[in-house]
Amino acid sequence: MTPIDLGHHGDREVQPGLVDFAVNVAVPRPPPWLRRELERALDEVARYPDVAPAVDALARLHGCPAACLLVTNGAAEAFTLIARARRWHKPLVVHPQFTEPESALRANGHLVTRLILERDNGFALDPSRVPADADLVVVGNPTNPTSRLHPRESILALVRPGRLVVVDEAFMDVARGGGDSVLQDAIACEGLLVIRSLTKTFGLAGIRVGYLMGTSDVIAQCALTQPHWSVNSLGVAAAVACAGTQGQEHTRALRGDLALWVSDLVARLTSAGLDVVREPAGPFVLVHHRHAARLRDGMRRRGFALRRGDTFPGLGPRWLRIAAREPSMTAALLAALAQELASINHGSHDTALMDQESEDLA
Ligand SMILES: Cc1ncc(COP(=O)(O)O)c(C=O)c1O
Repeated sequence: MTPIDLGHHGDREVQPGLVDFAVNVAVPRPPPWLRRELERALDEVARYPDVAPAVDALARLHGCPAACLLVTNGAAEAFTLIARARRWHKPLVVHPQFTEPESALRANGHLVTRLILERDNGFALDPSRVPADADLVVVGNPTNPTSRLHPRESILALVRPGRLVVVDEAFMDVARGGGDSVLQDAIACEGLLVIRSLTKTFGLAGIRVGYLMGTSDVIAQCALTQPHWSVNSLGVAAAVACAGTQGQEHTRALRGDLALWVSDLVARLTSAGLDVVREPAGPFVLVHHRHAARLRDGMRRRGFALRRGDTFPGLGPRWLRIAAREPSMTAALLAALAQELASINHGSHDTALMDQESEDLA
């Protein structure tokens, strides 16, 4: 069996001229108030960055001591810091999920155990399926790509002495209904670490800024291997602004918009005959179709990039992930999708007839 390319991400699917439904960054550019802060920060870039204002602003936002928070070069850096923090004996990654945690663990010499959740029960997490001797458990919530939100109780049920539970909450700030975060638990509870990202909600994927929250000793362990000046001056300025009033208003408004956009997307996909994983809590949906790979290729020819599903452990070529976008974009996507589906169905019909004819001739 060909190994899965864990380094494949949605950005590889987007080429000039394609409308992007593959990458989960929710806004095409940072909002104007944030761009002004970034411009101001450009005046400071001759100096080495000082991350302290970002730590203070985010700690204030979440009401925790600064020692419980580590700002990182995007959430992605956090996975590497965690992989390096200890010699893990049995690190386990709950799949299907974002592949960087497993990549980072492997790159740092760890042998990774996978727990694959299933479609049959909506990709729900049953904590009792996690082996007792797993000393690191990584789970996404809401999970990319299933868009499944695990209840806080299920996450807390994973915590036990001698284990670190890492919860990737990169999409929690815009999750349906406000989500179900364990952020406050992580500050109070040994063995729980939360990852957050600012790149999706604020259009900062190219600047890279995220953070880790947990008890001060776990945070100190993760900080040990973080390179100096890992978070640049623009990232620091962005984090301060995002943690402020305008940032929080932006998040609230976007969460509301995304909830409507996701419902619109689900309704349209469903009426086009696609099988959508129910109750998506994140700003993207996971879709099953027996010709998903052909559908994706056909949609590329029609100018739309959709995220392939086969590079997520536990999924395969019959899956696609589609990002929520504003309704006019979704309408354009669905118009093209209807044509592509018609062409695929027509082709399948022809193939079925040919199969039948050759059977009749035989
Ligand atoms: C679930 C999840 N976690 C983390 C990340 C990485 O986020 P960042 O851009 O902050 O590194 C992504 C990016 O797609 C993601 O989907």
